[in-house]
Amino acid sequence: MLIAGNWKMFKGPREAHAFFDGFDAPADVDVVFCPPFVSLAAAVESGRTIYAQNVHWEPTGAYTGEVSPTMLLELGVTGTLVGHSERRQIFGDTDEMVARRTRAALEAGLAVIACVGETLEQRESGDTELVLTIQVEAIAFAAGEHESLVIAYEPVWAIGTGKTTTPELAEEAHGFIKGLLDRPVLYGGSVKPENAAELLSQPSIDGALVGGASLEPDSFAAICRAASTS
Ligand code: PGA
Repeated sequence: MLIAGNWKMFKGPREAHAFFDGFDAPADVDVVFCPPFVSLAAAVESGRTIYAQNVHWEPTGAYTGEVSPTMLLELGVTGTLVGHSERRQIFGDTDEMVARRTRAALEAGLAVIACVGETLEQRESGDTELVLTIQVEAIAFAAGEHESLVIAYEPVWAIGTGKTTTPELAEEAHGFIKGLLDRPVLYGGSVKPENAAELLSQPSIDGALVGGASLEPDSFAAICRAASTS
């Protein structure tokens, strides 16, 4: 089981240190944290597994505001998210950009959690499988069944809204994704201590990508414990 905490644009270095002082998780669960870039060094000092939230595809260059795979590795960061729906929706990341980021990160030796998921409008118009196919195929074209690649299925309508999909709908989407690309699939979107065990007990759910509930040591530890027993 892999449980990833996506801190989004929360926690500077001071708060990151304070979090790790108060956090403990079962040893049989792979736990990774994705802090903002400025807190990566502080997070690495905790000895925990630390991923970035995004990465560029070139090693160096005139790319203001971007960070490269080799820079992350130099810091002790061992992986990265790519294609989070907030990157896609707010910052214009396309499937091509997500594919480039994925390939460059994997080639440099970073692990990758590549995020996919449909919007409410797409689900309601019956386009979920079409959208997932386009997103997953772009990642698969860039990376194949790379052993350091994990997919995160995050229905956009369930992110930060308190609305979770049902375990059955999530299981169906995970099964569909695995049919396109045979890699582990995490579920993300309002995962909380109260719903983690039920979601994680589904056969095709291989872990969770947690936003809001990863910001407090106690709630994130409770989700990690649920992963340990399921
Ligand atoms: P959430 O975020 O758990 O706050 O819904 C999940 C994510 O965006 O990765």
